[in-house]
Amino acid sequence: MNTAVAPEAQALLPVYRRFPVVVVRGEGCELVAEDGTRYLDFTSGISVNALGYNHPVLRRAIETAASAGVLHTSNFYRTLPGEELAQALVERSFASRVFFCNSGAEANEAAFKFARRASGSPDKREIVALKGSFHGRTFAALSATDRPQYREPFTPLVPGIRIVDPDNAAELERAITKERTAAVIAEPIQGEGGIKVLPGELLKDLRELCDEAEAALIFDEVQCGMGRTGTLFAYEQVDVVPDMVTLAKALGAGLPMGAVLLNERIASAIQPGDHATTFGGGPFVASVALAQWRVISEPDFLASVRAKGEWLGTRLRALAARHEKVLEVRGRGLIWGIELREPVQSVIERALARGLLVISAGPNVIRLLPPLVIGYEELSRGLEILESCL
Ligand SMILES: Cc1ncc(COP(=O)(O)O)c(C=O)c1O
Repeated sequence: MNTAVAPEAQALLPVYRRFPVVVVRGEGCELVAEDGTRYLDFTSGISVNALGYNHPVLRRAIETAASAGVLHTSNFYRTLPGEELAQALVERSFASRVFFCNSGAEANEAAFKFARRASGSPDKREIVALKGSFHGRTFAALSATDRPQYREPFTPLVPGIRIVDPDNAAELERAITKERTAAVIAEPIQGEGGIKVLPGELLKDLRELCDEAEAALIFDEVQCGMGRTGTLFAYEQVDVVPDMVTLAKALGAGLPMGAVLLNERIASAIQPGDHATTFGGGPFVASVALAQWRVISEPDFLASVRAKGEWLGTRLRALAARHEKVLEVRGRGLIWGIELREPVQSVIERALARGLLVISAGPNVIRLLPPLVIGYEELSRGLEILESCL
């Protein structure tokens, strides 16, 4: 492993602690480093690379889109791939409209604006987020993110956004009011917060509180959406229909893309000029996203993710039973967290040295996000490496 910092890396702003690996190629569920080392990838670029690397469908889509010669037009002109992708998202969800942008944080920013716009009153502008949340690093998304070390260096944050404890029913009820609340935002599975699957009952309660308060319920499915849990959207597994869903990460198949799915009530409050972005939903990224969508949205594909998820869950629970240092395993489909009684960084570094890529979700949780196309043999191999590192 090459641990020297390459001179070119010194020009980058050091906002990331990078692993000492220079990735040059990818194939299937493996990444290949400059020195030829192969790594089995259990991260998917943080829940992005659903189809792994060098997938023939994506390669063809990229080549076809490139040969049309139009990477970008601005949103002043119609382009077909974005329209088709929006139509596909609407057909397979609760939504009646889609807004495209470029990242998860941007999708959440847009959803907050849409909720405030649709609230109908200048007094009804509050956004309620939950303890343990992560919604992004831009100012409003950060204001809804529950991580003191991310927030405090940047105060004052955006007013009118508060974070409440979802386990405290009285606090939730006090926070969500008809007079003040525009929206409540929740990740059905909290990702950065430690892969915490929010109980279906809690999501139902949030739905009821939002209905009573005439507030929008936003599900942030940036990390857990797009087939990751074995259904296209995580909300499908809990029988709760949100008013908006935010997407990013896997949506663009590795190209930057975010989206807000909106129901008709919210969508009908939005006028031309209320919100915009230069790049959102451009023809190149949307063509690639659409090609990936056609693979992911196949019922057999989703069923295979559910089956692999159940298999993985069983294996992880057995692993937890064998190791005293494992406190809990949590997840659904192909998003899992292994919480240890101690910090996980050394386990992650050992796994890297043995050819397995995993990342953390908070100090004590190992996060597993393998590509959705992963096979059972690769899952087994990854688990063996991981167990040898515990
Ligand atoms: C649930 C969730 N929301 C929002 C974001 C922010 O997305 P982005 O990094 O694309 O801005 C993330 C990123 O990790 C996320 O996990």
